[in-house]
Amino acid sequence: MKFLIVFVALFAVALAEEVPIVRSEVDIEPNNYSFDWATNDGQAAQAKGELKNVGTDQEALSVQGSYRYVDNDGVEHSLSYIADENGFQPQSADLPVPVQA
Ligand SMILES: *[C@@H]1O[C@H](CO)[C@@H](O)[C@H](O)[C@H]1NC(C)=O
Repeated sequence: MKFLIVFVALFAVALAEEVPIVRSEVDIEPNNYSFDWATNDGQAAQAKGELKNVGTDQEALSVQGSYRYVDNDGVEHSLSYIADENGFQPQSADLPVPVQA
C-alpha cells in the first residue's frame, strides 16, 4: 500500500500547487480499479489494479502502473512498475541496474 500513499501524496502536491489537471480518470470496481491523471507541467500517473484469485488462499492484488514528471532542468523522468504477490518491481532508466547475485 506504500506506493498508493506515494501517488496520493503526489496528487495532493499537484493540487496544492494549483497546476492545472489536464486528465483525470478513476474507475473503481469491486475487484479492480484504475486511475489516470496528468497535469499540464508534465506530471502524470496511471495504474490498473486487479484482485486475483478472489476468495482463495492465493488472493492477491496485482497492480501495473507508471508515473512521470519533468525535473527542474526540464528532463523527463519516468518509472513503470508491477506490484503483485512477487513484490514491487519498478523499471526506470533512473534506477541503478540491479547487481545479479
Ligand atoms: C473490472 O471489474 C468489472 C466488474 O467487476 C468488470 O466488468 C471489468 O471487466 C473489470 N475490468 C478489468 C480490467 O478486469
